[in-house]
Amino acid sequence: MERRTFFQLGLTGIGAVAVANKAWALKYYPNPSDKKWAILYGTWCGTARDAGVWISEGMGGIADVFDVRENPDLSGFDHLVIGGAIRSGQVSPQLQEYLKTNREWLKEKVRGLYIVCGNMQQPVTPELVKQHIDNHLAPLCGVDNVSANVFLGRVTPRLLEPEVREMMSQFGEYDNLKRADCMALGQKILNSVE
Ligand SMILES: Cc1cc2nc3c(=O)[nH]c(=O)nc-3n(C[C@H](O)[C@H](O)[C@H](O)COP(=O)(O)O)c2cc1C
Repeated sequence: MERRTFFQLGLTGIGAVAVANKAWALKYYPNPSDKKWAILYGTWCGTARDAGVWISEGMGGIADVFDVRENPDLSGFDHLVIGGAIRSGQVSPQLQEYLKTNREWLKEKVRGLYIVCGNMQQPVTPELVKQHIDNHLAPLCGVDNVSANVFLGRVTPRLLEPEVREMMSQFGEYDNLKRADCMALGQKILNSVE
């Protein structure tokens, strides 16, 4: 290869890397719909993200799905679903901050809520739903009486921060999130609006 061609190809490569760095790591492309739906989630290790994608799939894949750490502008959406993972009894600080900042306009558009948590791998009870939804996520969003559910989540030690991994080692690795449960909530939320 000629020296000039080599440098040209090299520069093209650098350009591609620069563009790739600006792109979102994961973009969910929703199916078309006459209403704009968004799902906003707060996660540490991805359980709440996957639940959000599966809730959208239960709605026919029409909701776009956003990580709160991207600080998305959701004001152009008609309907919102808000979900979060639990650590020490609360959703992530970033999700709490986002909801506090945007609550006034956002509360008019929230149609559904969800929580993922470990719950010591015990089944979800009405008391748990009350604790995480009625007494925590719903007030953060400024709503009550919207379709909601709590899902059992998962722990993947290799995704945890090193100091947290050590602390959580007694719990091992588990995965209790069920796609069918998430899809059923998506369907229920959609039915509540249509
Ligand atoms: C440091 C830490 C604290 C947690 N605290 C709670 C808790 O207070 N209550 C609970 O039910 N689950 C708790 N869990 C379990 C998480 O809610 C569960 O792993 C969830 O699936 C994490 O979701 P994410 O992958 O979206 O971050 C905790 C997990 C970790 C790693």
